[in-house]
Amino acid sequence: MAAVVETDFVVVGAGIAGLRAAIGLAADGARVLHPSEQARRGPRVLVVTKEALDESNTYYAQGGIAVAMSGEEDVALHLDDTVNAGDGLVNREAARVLVEEGPVRVEELLRWGTDFDREGGKLMLTREGAHSRNRILHAHGDATGAEIGQSLLRHARAIPNITLLEWTTTTELLVEDGTVGGVMLLGRDGTVTQVRARAVLLASGGAGQVYSETTNPAVATGDGIAMAWRAGAEIADTEFYQFHPTALSLPGVQRFLLSEALRGEGAYLRNARGDRFMERYHQLLELAPRDVVARAITREGMGPAGVTLPVWLDMRHVTKVDPATRFPGISKFLAEHGLDLRRDLIPVRPAAHYLMGGVRTDVHGRTSLPRLYAAGEVACTGVHGANRLASNSLLEGLVFGARAAEAMLGAEQRAQGTGDRLQVTGRARRVPDDERRDFSQPLRELQKTMWEKAGLLRDAEGLSAANEELRSMGSAIPEEILDRQAIELGNLLTVGELIVRSALARKESRGAHYRNDFPKRDDAKFGKHSLIAKGEPVSFFDFAAAKVMV
Ligand code: SIN
Repeated sequence: MAAVVETDFVVVGAGIAGLRAAIGLAADGARVLHPSEQARRGPRVLVVTKEALDESNTYYAQGGIAVAMSGEEDVALHLDDTVNAGDGLVNREAARVLVEEGPVRVEELLRWGTDFDREGGKLMLTREGAHSRNRILHAHGDATGAEIGQSLLRHARAIPNITLLEWTTTTELLVEDGTVGGVMLLGRDGTVTQVRARAVLLASGGAGQVYSETTNPAVATGDGIAMAWRAGAEIADTEFYQFHPTALSLPGVQRFLLSEALRGEGAYLRNARGDRFMERYHQLLELAPRDVVARAITREGMGPAGVTLPVWLDMRHVTKVDPATRFPGISKFLAEHGLDLRRDLIPVRPAAHYLMGGVRTDVHGRTSLPRLYAAGEVACTGVHGANRLASNSLLEGLVFGARAAEAMLGAEQRAQGTGDRLQVTGRARRVPDDERRDFSQPLRELQKTMWEKAGLLRDAEGLSAANEELRSMGSAIPEEILDRQAIELGNLLTVGELIVRSALARKESRGAHYRNDFPKRDDAKFGKHSLIAKGEPVSFFDFAAAKVMV
């Protein structure tokens, strides 16, 4: 029997979106919900994370946070850049919210002590791909996500009604008559707990582990999307997986991110002959949109008879910054592998980085299920369209995390209290020790299938084969067990299937989704977002006309 616990709000994930939302729920909630007890206590907020509090995609974000801090013209240009990068598919309302509310949220971070890099007291701004001006704030050179994460964590820790629960996996959503009323948790020691709550926010990040090549940490297993899917929520735009062009490519070494800010500071890309090649692909050269650069690197790396040729990042000519000072984290990692940005060509290759699709939400984080909210990478507001503008994701987490908290508090005032007929929507049985298995081999097979058949360059034949392979892998995972590794593998299979299904349905090329068999963009047929709902074929929709629930 699972222990039963009650709280007001559950936030799944402790990255930038989850922590910003928790702060809003707890602190603003103290004002909004309990005016008579303001100073005493706000709503109880439980933040749950699978590992330590500093293990999320947020902490790995190097380059920075894009934000238009210098007035209206900058905001308008940031909007244009976001829309242009998204290749005809950005939900303009969401993008407007992002760029307009971004400065307020970043001011708030500054008040909370986030230490962005400065020169002569002024915030330093850099540029990345597809930005029309320098507007990217960074911290400690290349540790922006970690600095923001730590300052949010400090702030959250000082709020007594926030409980931060580490090393605890959220395994399922609890649902009663289609309404979400809590979560099931699995502790590191195998303890199972049922948490009942008035609303649940998914802020559980991305799913990079679905691919064999990824910049994401091991925790990025698409749990939020898969849980929401099992509970019946609608999922949008999963065919759009952004591949970062430059991950370090050394045999036997993790695909460490080499920030786009390196190219922002002037680094070149060179092919195996030593030639710069980006002029053949885009007028913005190395600062072209990410999908263009990633495909260009893939093509330059294709040698005869399937041989992969090296592609290099070259910073040796850059003298305006000292790479060791401007990029201390990257320089340190490279030094551990005998490489120096000032001296060496650095081998690179694309790697899965960011999922533009996810649980469909409106600009308030509301999903298609009552009392279920989502914010950050797990969500799909349509803000990134088919290709995310560099460094827009930390801003997304802040802006939409804060908004989701406001919406949850607003809905809470009308809430009826949860019933006691809550159902677990998926696996439920704790796995006995003698049934434990190692799932790393099927995980590697899944990742290989996805990389080779549903990666940067796709076609119907490969995607259909991937579909079959994922189905047969799915039948090999035991149902109804509570084991973190098995749950993560099951979640990744679900995400893989969603990616493959939507990629098959989108018979065109746009943004991060490239079909060799349909190489052109087709606005007439596919100028809309893809949608997958349980038991239905993939359809296409406009955000403006989509329904949400509260
Ligand atoms: C980078 O530093 O290149 C990553 C930033 C991002 O993904 O937006």
